[in-house]
Amino acid sequence: MRDIKKDFLWGGAIAANQAEGAHRKDGRGLSTADIQPFVPGADPTDLHFNDMDSETFERYKNGAYIYPKRQGVHFYDRYKEYIDALAEMHVKALRLSISWSRIFPNGDDEIPNEYGLAFYDRLFEYMKEKNIEPIVTIFHYEMPLNLVEQYGGWANPKLIDYFVKYGQTVLQRFHQTVKYWIIINQINLVHKEAFASLGILKDKVDHYEQAKFQAVHHQFVASAKITEFGHKLNPTIQLGVMLADTLTAPYSCEPADVELNFRRNRMQYFYSDVLIRGEYPEYALTYFEDHGIQLKITESEIDLLRNNTADFLAVSYYWSNTVKASENSMDPNSTVKNPHLKANRWGWSINASGLYLCMSKYWDRYHVPMMIAENGIGFKDVLTGDNHVHDDYRIEYHRDHIAAMKKAIREGADIFAYCSWAPFDIISAGTAEMSKRYGFIYVDYDDEGSGSGQIHYKDSFHWYKQVIDSNGEDLYPSISNSDEN
Ligand code: BG6
Repeated sequence: MRDIKKDFLWGGAIAANQAEGAHRKDGRGLSTADIQPFVPGADPTDLHFNDMDSETFERYKNGAYIYPKRQGVHFYDRYKEYIDALAEMHVKALRLSISWSRIFPNGDDEIPNEYGLAFYDRLFEYMKEKNIEPIVTIFHYEMPLNLVEQYGGWANPKLIDYFVKYGQTVLQRFHQTVKYWIIINQINLVHKEAFASLGILKDKVDHYEQAKFQAVHHQFVASAKITEFGHKLNPTIQLGVMLADTLTAPYSCEPADVELNFRRNRMQYFYSDVLIRGEYPEYALTYFEDHGIQLKITESEIDLLRNNTADFLAVSYYWSNTVKASENSMDPNSTVKNPHLKANRWGWSINASGLYLCMSKYWDRYHVPMMIAENGIGFKDVLTGDNHVHDDYRIEYHRDHIAAMKKAIREGADIFAYCSWAPFDIISAGTAEMSKRYGFIYVDYDDEGSGSGQIHYKDSFHWYKQVIDSNGEDLYPSISNSDEN
């Protein structure tokens, strides 16, 4: 039986493009995230930004929309206030990402932007002062826009070199401060988030699915090269692969549902199978052949992947789904809602047991250390007249999910961190709303970027602080919310 480690990293996770703002400050170049509009009144379940064609791209790039990610929650200028609040919550770690276009504004620049690097120097130094361990994602849903326009995104093998150069630059600069590195956010979500993950415009390629898998191959190669570089640079740092958990359950015990579910899930393991086991699995090669997908993979890349596997697996978990043979195909976007589960207004189901199951399955398959890199639920919170948010729904969600994680740990899963998404309210990745709030800390901006910017501690802030103080022992602490904040 395993226990939660004494030095377990209780933390939170954010991404640069959803928090920093300051999108043109100190030499930062435009990124893909900067052109994502907030569309008032849009269907909250419609993730319109994820599957992009050239016409939409031009319209978003040149249109007069509201672009919330350009200002985020002003983390770039206000990071000390946010870090202070996290320190007050006693968090041990903050997972955050580096903005690629802050370091290489066009992606293909000769030299990095020193002002961008200096920002992260300041940030990491302040986190160190506050005893908050940084967990850094190198690529989280934003790339220099120029790499989409000039090169066609990750479908182009040149992206390997540009990304490796960027990765090496940040590793070189920060390896003494940052131990844990996630190279690519949710590398398996390319079918749901092809534009954010790969920067591909679908009408610019002949065979969209092939282009996506080729682009993913380029990400595998870049990841292996960065891992090789990082291990030589500093053997104490850890470089990980990250999945968004999308493992499904069969809708019924009908053999066709069970088999489709099995085959679907195997293609979800594909990404970590390559990066942890170090080789392309036969089931994936068969899938490619059956779907007319021909990938360019060289012998030296095969060696590189074999010799530079990931040190840990990071997993984000939010919701779960089912598959039904009569309605679904191998397309990871086609699922059937589980009728036994409730969901929030964005259609994200609530199922803590799914976290127990996926972490246990990943452990059984890989036996490498794991972190929960994201877990949380979006709600429209109500700020009371006296600046409180009574978010018992959020407490319940995290309580049930932490209990599920503890169950997996008890049965052997080696999990060393739990990062709530997101410890303070930031812009939503999918819909660019501010009002889809995840935080334990309320941040007073609205969907159009107006507001006082003041921060207020929600009930969940006091709850999480006590969970951290008890190292996860006490999930039912009595909480008081008498602070001024
Ligand atoms: C994860 C992403 O998939 O989901 C985050 O890594 C994102 O960037 C999170 O914010 C929640 O999604 P959303 O659309 O509610 O912000």
